[in-house]
Amino acid sequence: MRVILASSEVVPYSKTGGLADVAGALPKALARIGCDISVVTPRYTGLGKRHGDVVHHETGELLFQDLRVPFAGGVKYASVWRDWQAGAPIYFIDNAEYFGHGYIYGSGNFDVERFAFFSRAVLELAKRLGAAPDLIHCNDWQTGFIPAYLATVYAQDSYFARTATLFTIHNLAYQGFFDPNLLPKFGFGWDAYEYGMEFHNSACSMKAGLYYATALSTVSPKYAQEIQTPEFGNNLDGLLRWRSGDLLGILNGVDYGEWNPETDTHLAANYGPHNLDAKLACKRDLLERYHLPVNLERPVVAIVSRLTSQKGIDLIIDAIWRILETDAYFILLGSGTDSYESYFQHVRDTAPNRVGVYFGFSTPLSHQVEAGADMFLMPSSYEPCGLNQMYSLKYGTVPLVRGVGGLDDTIHNFERTTGQGNGYKFYEYSADRLAEKYYEALLVYYDQDSWRKLQRNGMQADHSWERAAHEYVGAYQRVIAARRR
Ligand code: ADP
Ligand code: GLC
Repeated sequence: MRVILASSEVVPYSKTGGLADVAGALPKALARIGCDISVVTPRYTGLGKRHGDVVHHETGELLFQDLRVPFAGGVKYASVWRDWQAGAPIYFIDNAEYFGHGYIYGSGNFDVERFAFFSRAVLELAKRLGAAPDLIHCNDWQTGFIPAYLATVYAQDSYFARTATLFTIHNLAYQGFFDPNLLPKFGFGWDAYEYGMEFHNSACSMKAGLYYATALSTVSPKYAQEIQTPEFGNNLDGLLRWRSGDLLGILNGVDYGEWNPETDTHLAANYGPHNLDAKLACKRDLLERYHLPVNLERPVVAIVSRLTSQKGIDLIIDAIWRILETDAYFILLGSGTDSYESYFQHVRDTAPNRVGVYFGFSTPLSHQVEAGADMFLMPSSYEPCGLNQMYSLKYGTVPLVRGVGGLDDTIHNFERTTGQGNGYKFYEYSADRLAEKYYEALLVYYDQDSWRKLQRNGMQADHSWERAAHEYVGAYQRVIAARRR
């Protein structure tokens, strides 16, 4: 089984969010269980760097400079680079016109054009590599054009006669809308628009993926259900209900090679479930990094997040003073919407001895926050999977979440009487419910034996990618068989 995974971001080369973590870790886990997996991603170059992006330019060896990509009424060329991660090749599509601007995502129609070009380049690269893939695993709207190209432009191309596609939704809210007048430029006919891409008089590459892929998946079982409802369906719930027989929910995993407090090189001290006292050294280090006076008795409540409404930032803002009144520290690492940043700056200026903020993107600091905090907030309005709550579990940092999507699948309320559970969750989208759960957690925080039990429950659970990799291989086999029928 030959599989190509296409993603617009891949750790450790590029990242704006969890998609990069998944596209970095899943292929390694697949390679370890014997799947022939290659990854294809853009090579982002150019000066400057956008807020919230991580981009590394060291991307292995240059393979060739003359990949021909039919596009924009002619042929455009790309260079192709290759690197390796744990036995899996990563191919980089290098084209300065589209990926040489120093950012991962820019804005508007140009982004759609960039990723339409990328999608077509993935197919041309697959042909150039000389062994037809059995399956192309596409991820989010940036790769929604791949199934559409295969079903239309390449429909008569015998090279892909047996190639199936799996389209994974990481976030249904980002849909890749564009002006339908661009379709000829991308090489599509009006048929493709009418059937597979038209969406409220606009064209939509997310819809293209959902419509044309052989099968669909998303990143948690709960989100797979939710997106079939109007509340979470972003107006695509009808299409998703129509395809519900082809839609799977496979929970993401954690790359414990990167995220393990026993081996993490970013930390002031390493610790595990059996020497939790060493976590205090990380707490001290974190408070010092944020220039806060050190009092290790007080709880540290933290978030590491894109600052967008998805992440329930409004609830945190509404509950922040109630949290601070309990003598807690509040620590934030994140970037995003300006109004959120300025509000948290105001909170920091009002309570400078209790609040620390860092607006930016820092991978080492994200590890240090996970290790140094006592509680981690994720009151998301929706959450396809969420990775930080699973990182928190491993780091003995108690997650307090809203029960949506992958958060509902992974976090279970702790009951002091039974000693069962790994965190705290509430359902109603309300700051009062968040505050109530926080007070409940706080009582347990001051009962050290129960808190230790709660921390260890989370630390000892196994959320490794191995389980998910086996689920994906099973899914790939079924999707390939479906295509051949
Ligand atoms: P999403 O993909 O919706 O942003 P996830 O929880 O799946 O949410 O993944 C977010 C990833 O991005 C995590 O690895 C998290 O640590 C990382 N991250 C988010 N914001 C920052 C930041 N400001 N600095 C460093 N890492 C961040
Ligand atoms: C998206 C989702 C997040 C998920 C990530 C990786 O960015 O918002 O919930 O964990 O993709 O699948």
